[in-house]
Amino acid sequence: MGESITVTDNRTGASVEIPIEFGGVSAAEFSKLLPGVWFYDPGFTSTAACESSITFVDGDAGILRYRGYPIEQLAEHSTYLEVAYLLLYGELPNSTQFETWERDITYHTFIHENVRKRFLEGFHYDAHPMGMLVSAIAALSTFYSDAKQIDSPEVLDRQIVRLIAKMPTLAAAAHRFSVGMPFVYPDNELSYTANFLSMMWKVAEPHYQADPALVRALEVLFILHADHEQNCGTTAMRVAASAHSDPYSATAAATAALYGPRHGGANEAAIKMLTEIGSIENVPAFIEQVKQGHGRLQGFGHRVYKSYDPRATIVKKAAYDVFEVTGKNPLIDIALALEEAALSDPYFIDRKLYPNIDFYTGLIYQAMGFPMEMFTVLFAIPRTAGWLAHFKELLDQDLKIARPRQLYVGAERREYVAMQERPTT
Ligand code: CMC
Repeated sequence: MGESITVTDNRTGASVEIPIEFGGVSAAEFSKLLPGVWFYDPGFTSTAACESSITFVDGDAGILRYRGYPIEQLAEHSTYLEVAYLLLYGELPNSTQFETWERDITYHTFIHENVRKRFLEGFHYDAHPMGMLVSAIAALSTFYSDAKQIDSPEVLDRQIVRLIAKMPTLAAAAHRFSVGMPFVYPDNELSYTANFLSMMWKVAEPHYQADPALVRALEVLFILHADHEQNCGTTAMRVAASAHSDPYSATAAATAALYGPRHGGANEAAIKMLTEIGSIENVPAFIEQVKQGHGRLQGFGHRVYKSYDPRATIVKKAAYDVFEVTGKNPLIDIALALEEAALSDPYFIDRKLYPNIDFYTGLIYQAMGFPMEMFTVLFAIPRTAGWLAHFKELLDQDLKIARPRQLYVGAERREYVAMQERPTT
């Protein structure tokens, strides 16, 4: 007999046996016995909202796979565009498929001039690039009149190509505007990541050639960030997509969620934290402060990983490859001391808090010259592939609109009181 649970309603004595499948039980089965009795699960810590075949995470064992392929193998051998194709279409592309895919992406990197001139350049001079990005992605939906045709796979695929292709262009445009530099048009001769670096850093040279080691390091970081199953941003994406929002608006919702410091904003927060700590001698005092409940160790802890985040292992190694070219980021010594102190402290051991992907990525971005405000943008660019893979999967599954229940704990019915009759204090 397979595994199951038995639920008994003690009010009536009625019971139902529910099979445990893939590690979970169906709420629909439970509701047959107990209609109107909700699972109270803030933060969805025990709720699976969908079936998915995109990304597998085993948080206890520190395993991450995209479509079955271990992240370590993809980081070593693949490219971001190949991984994006894998996430979206389920299989690694053959050479013809990849050629078409890469060409399509390359030839959709330009943005409408009005997106830049009227929209991006309309922001205040010190606007945060993530705020600009969220708005610009949403604005794209108004530039493509077919954006709402999500029931046509061909049309949807066109929006997917546009979004993946234009993210680096929007990101670089937001940066150039914020530092008062002229916009750099995409260069179709360059790879996805090399083109992004060109749009970021080109000054007067006819062709900007980034150091190949830096291009590869960014490629690896893009692969690592491409998807991470039902995290906060992807959940925002899926919730918006479940209402059949167009892919641009849904991607804007996901990007907005990613912006938060508990999510994609943690890489920026980690560098701020390391800078504030300032030197290795201050590490013990900082750890004590966190243990007293004053702030969190940024880039540490994860809802799913209760062991070392496998992405953090790869990022830590990539950091040294980058430092070979850029010189060492002095904050790495503080980061290593902090990690060592935390991993030997019962507070962090008992709570299974380990470095996550954001602990070391900021050090790389900073060494490569990216301003801190761009760190979360660098997360959003590659995550777009994962978000859109979930968008496609949700539509294919024809899922219901997301609509959780609540446990109402507010006031009972009461009568309206005129303003002059309300207490003044
Ligand atoms: N520093 C110190 N204590 C922590 C930390 C931390 N970074 N993270 C969790 N804790 C403690 C927390 O105080 C709580 O302790 P207690 O049981 O005594 O109240 C316990 O560990 C469990 O924390 P939680 O907030 O219930 O855990 P969660 O699963 O809801 O939160 C998290 C996960 C990632 C939001 C959290 O670990 C965190 O805030 N980390 C810092 C921010 C960060 O690095 N975010 C990036 C996550 S990975 C990439 C991404 O998703 O974008």
